[in-house]
Amino acid sequence: MYKDIEKVYYTQEALAAIVKRLGKEISEDYRDKKLLLVSILKGSVVFMADLMREITVPCEIDFMCVSSYGNSTENSNSTVRIIKDLDCDIQGRDILLVEDILDSGRTLSHVINVLKTRNPRSIRICTLLDKPERRVVDLKADYHGTDVPDEFVVGYGLDYAEKYRNLPYIGVLKKEIYSDI
Ligand code: IMP
Ligand code: MG
Repeated sequence: MYKDIEKVYYTQEALAAIVKRLGKEISEDYRDKKLLLVSILKGSVVFMADLMREITVPCEIDFMCVSSYGNSTENSNSTVRIIKDLDCDIQGRDILLVEDILDSGRTLSHVINVLKTRNPRSIRICTLLDKPERRVVDLKADYHGTDVPDEFVVGYGLDYAEKYRNLPYIGVLKKEIYSDI
């Protein structure tokens, strides 16, 4: 195990099983739709890469980058900024937002409000992880991997200060790593 990790919540194998199940659900629901997977960067990049290969219906992909956390583990800033917008026109498309973790819900709720003005046919959310007790806006994922306790998790795309995204599992950092911030 990597030296900064206190404990592993989801192993590589456990994550693969969750992603497989989500891919199956999505493939069934989007059989006759114009699916566009929108990966919310950077956190969802690993999840997106695995999820899209579990989807068996035609789909396209695009990316959006929004600001959320800085180097802190608390989202104190309630304004969400779009750093990189979509490349494609989403009018009439069935959008599935692919997110690493739903926390306060502010990020996705802002993204959804912006995308709705562009007249897609539908917008849904697929999140790998969820911290439902942390929600400050009314938002629920349509495709939901698993709940995690209210602890700061890293790995499988999720970072702390841009680090740990490359860990193949999801774990909790040792407290001393961020307690001095
Ligand atoms: P929200 O806007 O509060 O829902 O924040 C969602 C974003 O915050 C996620 O896409 C993550 O990038 C980040 N985030 C929330 N909780 C964690 C965590 O435990 N570890 C790493 N990133 C997190
Ligand atoms: Mg994210």
